[in-house]
Amino acid sequence: MAPGSPAARRRAAPRLLAALLGLHVLAIAFALEVSVGKTNTVTALNNSNVLLPCTFATCIGFQDLVFKWYFNTTELIYHGKIKAKTTEPTLVWHNPRVEFVGSTTKKDNNISIVLNGVEFSDAGKYTCYVKNPKERNAEQNATIFLTVVHKMVETDNTVTIIILSVVGGLIGLLILFMLIKRVVLFIIKKMQDGKKECLVSSSGNDNTENGLAGSKAEQKAPPKA
Ligand SMILES: *[C@@H]1O[C@H](CO)[C@@H](O)[C@H](O)[C@H]1NC(C)=O
Ligand SMILES: *[C@@H]1O[C@H](CO)[C@@H](O)[C@H](O)[C@H]1NC(C)=O
Ligand SMILES: *[C@@H]1O[C@H](CO)[C@@H](O)[C@H](O)[C@H]1NC(C)=O
Ligand SMILES: *[C@@H]1O[C@H](CO)[C@@H](O)[C@H](O)[C@H]1NC(C)=O
Repeated sequence: MAPGSPAARRRAAPRLLAALLGLHVLAIAFALEVSVGKTNTVTALNNSNVLLPCTFATCIGFQDLVFKWYFNTTELIYHGKIKAKTTEPTLVWHNPRVEFVGSTTKKDNNISIVLNGVEFSDAGKYTCYVKNPKERNAEQNATIFLTVVHKMVETDNTVTIIILSVVGGLIGLLILFMLIKRVVLFIIKKMQDGKKECLVSSSGNDNTENGLAGSKAEQKAPPKA
């Protein structure tokens, strides 16, 4: 990456600021970060393969970085190493059902895994742990919870469907109301046209009371319906 690129500058700025101010505390705020994404729960179907996402970020860079995945805090299920940003991780050890699917040479340092053939006993806590020797062995971890189900009951979708139905229903009602209004206006116009003829023929000034509705409807093109 070019040193002058916006991303590089963005990463360099906090360090420069920290150096200038001599504040070590500030540097910590921009140190190693590990994340499993926006939600920390994942639901998988019995017998499916599930992605357990994890990424890490470090502004200082990394070298001989170690990452591990644990099940229920203590059971190691994946252990990998990354020499540098330009290389993909190498496997140290893995549970045969666990597969590395990430990539650390792209923008994100993606260290996600896939757990194959999910069983009910796989439900629990998955911890993604990262240690960066280049950052004085800074360690961070992030946790994601796996739930295993027989059938996908997508409560989120149910709620979405309900909301969409309500909104759709309201829009439908609005359209219906507008159609009725048009029809009513059309009928009123027809009636008034008839009346006006009578009024006009009797007195030219006497149509002020129905003039509003009448003139409004008159300006519109006749409804197609
Ligand atoms: C999980 O799925 C497998 C194969 O689809 C099935 O044989 C097994 O009975 C399921 N387990 C439960 C507890 O439903
Ligand atoms: C996760 O991180 C905390 C502190 O950052 C540490 O105390 C804990 O042991 C870590 N857990 C695992 C499973 O590595
Ligand atoms: C990490 O890589 C996997 C496999 O390519 C992908 O499915 C997932 O979306 C990636 N996660 C992020 C946060 O980029
Ligand atoms: C893992 O943890 C979950 C919740 O903390 C628990 O229900 C489950 O029994 C644990 N599984 C194993 C194999 O220890």
